[in-house]
Amino acid sequence: MTISPELQTHQSFWLASTLPSSYPALSQDIAVDVAIVGGGIAGITTAILLKQAGKQVAVLEADRVAAGVSGHTTAKVTSQHQLKYAHLIKDLGVDKARLYGDANQAAVEQVATLVQKYSIDCDFERQAAYVFAETSDTLASVHQEVEAAQSLGLPASFAPTLPLPFATRGAAKFSHQAQFHPRKYLLALAAQVDGDGSYLFEQTRVSTVDGEHPSQVKTQTGFTVTAQDVVVTTNLPILDQGLFFAKAYPRRSYLIGCPIDPAQAPSGMFIGTGEGYRSIRTTPTDDGGRLLLIGGEGHKVGDVSDTEARFDRLAIYARDRFGVVPAYHWSSQDMMSFDQVPYVGRLTPAHQHTYVATGFSLWGMSNGTASAMVLRDLILDQPNPWAELYEATRATPFVTQDSLKKNLEVGAHWVGDRLKGLFDSPDSVEPGEGKVVNAGVDKVAVYRDPAGTAHSVSAVCPHLGCIVAWNAAETSWDCPCHGSRFDTEGNILQGPAVQGLERND
Ligand SMILES: Cc1cc2nc3c(=O)[nH]c(=O)nc-3n(C[C@H](O)[C@H](O)[C@H](O)COP(=O)(O)OP(=O)(O)OC[C@H]3O[C@@H](n4cnc5c(N)ncnc54)[C@H](O)[C@@H]3O)c2cc1C
Ligand code: FES
Repeated sequence: MTISPELQTHQSFWLASTLPSSYPALSQDIAVDVAIVGGGIAGITTAILLKQAGKQVAVLEADRVAAGVSGHTTAKVTSQHQLKYAHLIKDLGVDKARLYGDANQAAVEQVATLVQKYSIDCDFERQAAYVFAETSDTLASVHQEVEAAQSLGLPASFAPTLPLPFATRGAAKFSHQAQFHPRKYLLALAAQVDGDGSYLFEQTRVSTVDGEHPSQVKTQTGFTVTAQDVVVTTNLPILDQGLFFAKAYPRRSYLIGCPIDPAQAPSGMFIGTGEGYRSIRTTPTDDGGRLLLIGGEGHKVGDVSDTEARFDRLAIYARDRFGVVPAYHWSSQDMMSFDQVPYVGRLTPAHQHTYVATGFSLWGMSNGTASAMVLRDLILDQPNPWAELYEATRATPFVTQDSLKKNLEVGAHWVGDRLKGLFDSPDSVEPGEGKVVNAGVDKVAVYRDPAGTAHSVSAVCPHLGCIVAWNAAETSWDCPCHGSRFDTEGNILQGPAVQGLERND
């Protein structure tokens, strides 16, 4: 099986179907009420909600707004988070599970309100969200999920049949959920943020935040934003003090987009259960057609180098289940919280005016929006029903089986990956290949391009010193510890690192 990559766009459909944004870089020192670091869904939504409340805000984005994880998502906007609520009730209790459901339902409605208020043309559609079973084992879990969700007051019911062209055993159906084009939505919100004493800066990477109330937000070009409050929404916070890199781990996930006859396009948003699950939805295209999105094949960042095979498996599924072939393929990663709930609020107990939001666990369209509502209320010093549930400084499960395993794996990467490539030299890297090799005592990440030229950078991640791993599909160096990513010249593609890999000439 081949997915004929030459016939496909290796880019997120959301980026391919919108124009790039072009906000200026910060070019002088400024002062605002609130500085927001990172222009994804969490940052942009926080900015607009605070501006609505009368604050002057500045969004500082290292690259381009809505081009990070939020530009590479599936963009289901729903409180239906696969098999979630039965687990939450078991692990955290009924009260916290109810708050989680309420927060995410409110987030769906918050998105709908913003779409309406600013008349945003973003293909917003109300759809039911289904989590479906294909085996009798998973059917039992689906029934438990319906029961759990109903007990929390969520709009859940059991659907014995689904509008899908293959057999299922039934699904938990959440009614009146939503889907949209995330970049059309976020770019329209960004345009509302900019102006009237508020700002949006792109190509402005923040390196540190010093002091509090006021804070000095320092950028790599040397300019500073002075702000009474600072919100860090860089997916994984670039500030290490809260140890969020040890409370969550990065998970990479893959998506393909396949043109489908609109008459055959399934109505609804779907996700399977168990290993090898698929996430499915459709979206309109500007030529009046419809694109079927199929996602899945997730794994912890850095664990897999032959990432191209993941797209092949999605393409086979698309062919076998829907009779369609991909026109787009892309991948991205999100931070998974160990206790299944995002971390939103103060950076540490000692910080009163520096806030973070992370750990959306692949459900950041609703969780990122809910986070923005929590952050707005914390900054405005007004009550929020979900602030305690999401509290970033809550006691965290460092010692659950999962977190212990993942943090031990980080330790193992830190030590074990130093043995990688011990006997390989740069000459052993084939054209089109990336490999960590030894050059004297240094670990070097070498990519040889198809023309045979070697591009070599230090393999040591500048965040906390792990050794990067090759990602063949994205032609990038990915850090297995906390998910920083770099291009073959060492430039940062994704944090928490705030510096690139050192050039090794
Ligand atoms: C494949 C995939 C499918 C998904 N599907 C869904 C779905 O269907 N529904 C759902 O609810 N969620 C989904 N998610 C999850 C959701 O997309 C994410 O949780 C959400 O987009 C994260 O938003 P964010 O604002 O935290 O991060 P981002 O969108 O990545 O924004 C962070 C921004 O911070 C910037 N930044 C980083 N470092 C700095 C710095 N030093 N200075 C300044 N700026 C910086 C980055 O450039 C970036 O633009 C999916 C995720 C993936 C990977
Ligand atoms: S991202 Fe933390 S060590 Fe690389």
